[in-house]
Amino acid sequence: MDYALVAVEEPLDWINFHAIRRVELFEAKGRFGVYNDKHADDYADFAHPYLLTLDGRALGTARLDLLGAGRAAIRLVAITAGEQGRGHGRVLEMLVSERARALGVAVLLVNAAEDAVGFYRKTGWEPFDWDASELVNSAVSCVQMRKLL
Ligand SMILES: CC(C)(COP(=O)(O)OP(=O)(O)OC[C@H]1O[C@@H](n2cnc3c(N)ncnc32)[C@H](O)[C@@H]1OP(=O)(O)O)[C@@H](O)C(=O)NCCC(=O)NCCS
Repeated sequence: MDYALVAVEEPLDWINFHAIRRVELFEAKGRFGVYNDKHADDYADFAHPYLLTLDGRALGTARLDLLGAGRAAIRLVAITAGEQGRGHGRVLEMLVSERARALGVAVLLVNAAEDAVGFYRKTGWEPFDWDASELVNSAVSCVQMRKLL
């Protein structure tokens, strides 16, 4: 079992990245036809989009947004449905945290979907209100959390 955290750059990586996010974060939550695979934030300088692969197969996604002053937000975390509940999310969280630390991040932040709060608690996060403006236009109910690296 060989996990890798792949920086999304190649065309096939982008296809897998968008496919997992479209299904798990939008369609599985009843939101069809609204996922935008051309969203400017995915291609911004602050954004570090990643795929989790296992033996070369794409299983999960996360985007790390560097916010400055040692802070970063982790966004759009997802593991493909047939593979959830098998420990891959824990590996993804660990690898993204490691990568963030290497990029000089000391505080990781997230807007956790309500039904994912248990996952974040299990992986060392705590509730923490970090920016109320982030939640204003949120389509799903979220809890703000942080992790000190
Ligand atoms: C949330 C998600 C990323 C977790 O990934 P996963 O691979 O299923 O999680 P893991 O199997 O690595 O679980 C790690 C731990 O968290 C727990 N956990 C996972 N999902 C949980 C949940 N929704 N609620 C409570 N605990 C959860 C597991 O029981 C496990 O605990 P254990 O090690 O003590 O047994 C994944 O389920 C997912 O993609 N969900 C749909 C998309 C989503 O909601 N993303 C979050 C957006 S903020």
